[in-house]
Amino acid sequence: MTGRVDGPDKVTGRARYAFEYPLDGAAYAWAVPSVIARGTIRSVDATGALAVPGVLAVITPDNAPRLPGTDDPELALFQSRAVAYRGQYAAAVVAASAEAARAAAGRVVIEYDQAAHDVTLTPDHPRLYKPDFVNPRHETDTASGDFDGAFAAAAVRVDATYRTPAEHNHPMEPHATVAVWEGGTLTVYDATQGPSRTAAQVAAVFGLEPGQVRVIAEHVGGGFGAKGMPRANVILAAMAARITGRPVKCAVTRSQMFAVTGHRAPSIQRVRLGAGPDGRLTALCHDVIDQTSTLKEFTEQSAVATRHMYAAPHRRTTHRVVRLDVPTPSWMRAPGECPGMFALESAMDELAAACGIDPVELRLRNEPAVHPETGQPFSSRHLTACLREGAARFGWAGRDPAPGGRRAGNAHRRWLTGTGVAASTYPARAMPSQARVTVSPSGRYQVLIAAADIGTGARTALLVVAAETLGVPAAAIDLRIGDSALPPAMIAGGSMGTASWTWAVIKACRALRDQVRARDGAVPPGGLSAHADTTTDIGALASGPLAGRARYAFGAQFAEVRVDADTGEVRVPRLLGVFAAGRIVSPAQARSQLIGGMTMGLSMALHEESAMDPQFGDYPNHDLAGYHIAAHADVQDIDAVWIDEEEPDLGPAGAKGIGEVGIVGTAAAIASAVYHATGIRVRDLPIRLDKLLRGNP
Ligand code: MOS
Repeated sequence: MTGRVDGPDKVTGRARYAFEYPLDGAAYAWAVPSVIARGTIRSVDATGALAVPGVLAVITPDNAPRLPGTDDPELALFQSRAVAYRGQYAAAVVAASAEAARAAAGRVVIEYDQAAHDVTLTPDHPRLYKPDFVNPRHETDTASGDFDGAFAAAAVRVDATYRTPAEHNHPMEPHATVAVWEGGTLTVYDATQGPSRTAAQVAAVFGLEPGQVRVIAEHVGGGFGAKGMPRANVILAAMAARITGRPVKCAVTRSQMFAVTGHRAPSIQRVRLGAGPDGRLTALCHDVIDQTSTLKEFTEQSAVATRHMYAAPHRRTTHRVVRLDVPTPSWMRAPGECPGMFALESAMDELAAACGIDPVELRLRNEPAVHPETGQPFSSRHLTACLREGAARFGWAGRDPAPGGRRAGNAHRRWLTGTGVAASTYPARAMPSQARVTVSPSGRYQVLIAAADIGTGARTALLVVAAETLGVPAAAIDLRIGDSALPPAMIAGGSMGTASWTWAVIKACRALRDQVRARDGAVPPGGLSAHADTTTDIGALASGPLAGRARYAFGAQFAEVRVDADTGEVRVPRLLGVFAAGRIVSPAQARSQLIGGMTMGLSMALHEESAMDPQFGDYPNHDLAGYHIAAHADVQDIDAVWIDEEEPDLGPAGAKGIGEVGIVGTAAAIASAVYHATGIRVRDLPIRLDKLLRGNP
C-alpha cells in the first residue's frame, strides 16, 4: 500500500477539521488579548461589547467561572488579573456569529496597571538561573573529565557563539475547538496532536472525571508540537459553552498564535571544541542560554544532543534560563536537538576548516563506540553509514576545501557556490498505548486506537502494520483513530507516534490472530476482540534486560547553495538527507515526513524569525506576511533516503520515528555551505542577505 488512505478525503474536502463540525445553534468565542506585557487588569468595561447585536456574553476575570484545578497556568484562563505577556487572553466575547464576536471584542475596554517589562534575552542576564531539569526531564548540566584543562591544552580550538531566534510552529490549520456540553459531559472537537492527553487535561481543568470529557480530532492540519497539549482556546470554548448553554466554536487567529499557542524560544549557545591536529576531539563544551515566561518554565534542551554525538574524553554541557515577560515557549519540531545541532554542527564545520580536514571525515574520526557520557551501548547507531552513503550519492568526493572562489552564472547574475554537511539525530522512544482489534463473522476487522493523524500519514502506517499482522488486505480493516473514546494512546509527538501506536496495534492484532487460529478461523456470531496495553512492554525498556541502552535515530544532511555575489540572496538548489531510523513502516509517507522536516530546516536557515519588539514586548511580524517561511520557490532538488536499519528494542515494528530527525542539522548544513560559498560564517539564524552583504560576498 503506497497511497495515503485519507488522501481522497482531503483533496475532495470531505475530511472534516475541528472548526468545521456543523452544530445547531453554535455560538462563537473571540478572545481579547492583553495589550501590555506585564501588569494587572484594573477593570473591564463590557458595556459597549454587550450592546453589539448577537452578543451573548463577555467573559472577564470578574465573572469567569472558577476552574477547580490545573497544573498548567496557561490553562487557568481568566482566573487571575495578572498579565504575564502581551497577547495573553484577558477577556472574551461570545456571540451568535463570529463577526459579531469579533466586532464586540474590539469594544471591550480594559484598563491596566502597567508594570515595566523585560523581554530581552542577553547572555549575561542577571536573572539567569539553573533549572532543575530541561525539557522534558533531562539533566540540566553534565560534565566528565577536565574540560577546562583539556581545552586550554588543545592544539586546535574553536570557541564560537551561535544564536537562533524565536520561531513559531505555524501549522496550516490554526488551533480551533468546538465545545458542547450535554449534562455533565463535555465533547470537544479539537485540533490536537493527542485526543487522550487533551481529554485528561481538560477534565482536570474543569474538575471532571476523565470519562466525562471526549475529544474528537479526526483530521488535524499539522501541529509541529504546538498542538501537543491543549491551549487556551480549548478552555475558552468549553467555558463559553457552559456559560451560554450552546455549542461554542473558537478559532485562534494567526496573529494570536504568536502569543498563546507556543513557540521555540530564542537561544544563545557557546560551543567550544578542542582537538588534536588530526581533528580528534579532546574537549567539548556546549553552554546554552535560553528564555521562558514568568508563567511557566520551559527550557529548551539544546545541549542534550551534544551529549551523545561525538567522542571526547573531556566534556561539559550546561543550560541556563531566564524568566522574561514573554509568551510561554513550548514544543516545536525537535525541541532542543534542532537549535542545538545548528550550533554543534556549525562548530564541527569550523573545526574541520581549522584542522584542514574534510567535514565528513572529521565526523567519521569522532564517532564514539558507546554513548560518550554514560558509556551505554547504542541499540543501533548508523551515523557513519549515513555520512558515507550521503557523500556517495551527493557527489562529495573531490570537494574543493577552500571557502569562496567558486563562481557560476553570467555577467547578469554572479553566483558563488558551495556545499555543506551536518549530522542529524533524534531520540528513539515509545510511550504506553492501548489498542483494540475486533473481527466480525463476515470477516471485517476494526482497529481502534486514540492515535492522531496530524497530516503525517499515521492512518496509512497503522493500516500497513495491521494488515500485515492480521494477514488480511487493508481493505478488510476499518481503522478508527482521533477520538479519546477509543483506547488511550500516546500523542503524535516526540517522534513517538508510529513506534508507540504500532506496538499496541501489532500486539492486539497478534492476540486476535491467535484467537482466530485457535478456532480454526471460525468467528462466532458475536465476533471476537482483543485488547492490548503496552505499558509493561515499554516499562521493560527502562528496567529489563534492554535497560541502559542509548536509542537514537541518526542522519546526514548535505546541502548545495548558491549565493548571489551582488545581493547576498541565498538559493538552495540541492538538499539530500540520508537517515537511519529503524524500520520505515510506510515509505511514501516517511519520505514526505523527512522532506517536510528538511524543508522546515531550510526555512529555519533562511527565513524564520519572530522578532521581539522590546518597547511593546510583542512580535511585530505576527502574521505570515511578516514571518517568512519557505515557499515552493525555495525548494528545488530535495531528497530524503534511508538505509536499512534493524532496531531491536523499539517494539515489534522496530520503528524509531521520523517526525523530527529531518529538521535537525539542515540549518547547519546550509550555513556551512554558505560559508563554503562565500567565506562568511553566519552564526545567527536566519541567514538573511544583509548579514552576507556586511561581509561583502
Ligand atoms: Mo513534536 S515538537 O514532539 O510534537
